[in-house]
Amino acid sequence: MAWWDNAVVYQIYPRSFQDSDGDGAGDLRGITARLDYLAWLGVDAFWLSPIYPSPLADFGYDVSDYTDVAPEYGKLEDFDELVAAAHDRGLRVLLDLIPCHTSIEHPWFREHPDWYIWSPVEGPPNNWVSAFGGPAWSRDERTGRWYLHSFYPEQPDLDWQNPAVVEAFQGVVRFWLDRGVDGFRLDAIDKLIKDDRLRDDPPASGDFPLPLRPDAAKLERVYSGHRPEAIDTLGTIRAAAGDALLVGEVFQPTHEYPPYLEVLDLVFAFELLFAPWDAARLRAAIAPAAELGRVAWVMSNHDFDRLATRLGPAHVRAAATLLLTLPGTTFVYQGDEIGLANGPGADPPYDRAGRDPMRHPMQWDTSATGGFTTGVPWLPAVDPTERNVEAQRADPDSLLHHYRGLIARRKDLGPFRLLDSEPDVLAYERGDEVIAIETKPG
Ligand code: NOJ
Repeated sequence: MAWWDNAVVYQIYPRSFQDSDGDGAGDLRGITARLDYLAWLGVDAFWLSPIYPSPLADFGYDVSDYTDVAPEYGKLEDFDELVAAAHDRGLRVLLDLIPCHTSIEHPWFREHPDWYIWSPVEGPPNNWVSAFGGPAWSRDERTGRWYLHSFYPEQPDLDWQNPAVVEAFQGVVRFWLDRGVDGFRLDAIDKLIKDDRLRDDPPASGDFPLPLRPDAAKLERVYSGHRPEAIDTLGTIRAAAGDALLVGEVFQPTHEYPPYLEVLDLVFAFELLFAPWDAARLRAAIAPAAELGRVAWVMSNHDFDRLATRLGPAHVRAAATLLLTLPGTTFVYQGDEIGLANGPGADPPYDRAGRDPMRHPMQWDTSATGGFTTGVPWLPAVDPTERNVEAQRADPDSLLHHYRGLIARRKDLGPFRLLDSEPDVLAYERGDEVIAIETKPG
């Protein structure tokens, strides 16, 4: 049995978890200072959203150096201390690996232009669109050539057909494994390889089961990504990672996951993340993923509405019961365990794709910043007097204790089987125990 079987992985958004130096942004020492909380909660591991130097066009998902820590988060020594302190408490550490693109400010972009994907013509060579809207091709002002970016223009796509890119990334993986990390969450890997003939994506032939921005929804994105060749390429990451945990972010429906699982351990079950609070829809999302087995269950993250906002506060307790009694590995996004909802974001926004509201700081106590910082937080606390860790720890009936109790029981749950049930109830057994999740409008 692997360590991640039945594990609970806690997602930390480093910028918003705990600030230790009063600059208003979270940092690694802040995380280390909060590890006793994670140990108390009972999780097995935590995943750190990107900690690398970044110009923050996509808040860390635009990396300008894969083998260092962003100065506002600390130094490599702080990372080493964090890993050691985590391991002392039996907590495993996962990093975010972003192989599809770098920051446009990564030195590779100028030093190794052949590591990126360029249009063979003067202008976009096809109709591919960026995940955030608009064309996936932009003109590089310095050279006049057009480069591909599956996300923001500040994130040029790497050319994984170039063996030098493979080698560089294998080096990155080994660098962090040597520093003691236990695995990686792999960002956007269905975009890793594109059609080498750069063919146009055809028009969409039906509804895609996951949400897409309007431009992308019009196309069947079969050439701009999700290529069968990606599996061999991912194999090169596996070769470097050995038996470290690899969890893939594959923004595709469940039935597309099997090839990815040839080289990865787990793939996020996105259909559950987007399922409305309706027994039949939840069941439809869960059944195929549970059958596949090796999925990472997830109901929220830093990209989409928070659980309490998406489902409504009335359902957060039942949602926790569901998430933490599904079989296999489960991911919990920081703050969901205290019922944190979306915040107001910033004006003007930091994130052009509108994701600031899901990234407000963790709330530890009732103080104005929720105990997140002694300075001015980069995003304000949402409602620390109404919900915070300190108060919920003191209250055995709180949502936080509900999470903790579920996590504690999780490893003892028996085999999973979906049961027939009345409408508005999702029922399944875990061994001798029957779990019934009510989804009546609350
Ligand atoms: C998925 C990440 O979760 C998201 O935050 C990011 O914007 C894209 N991948 C691009 O890296």
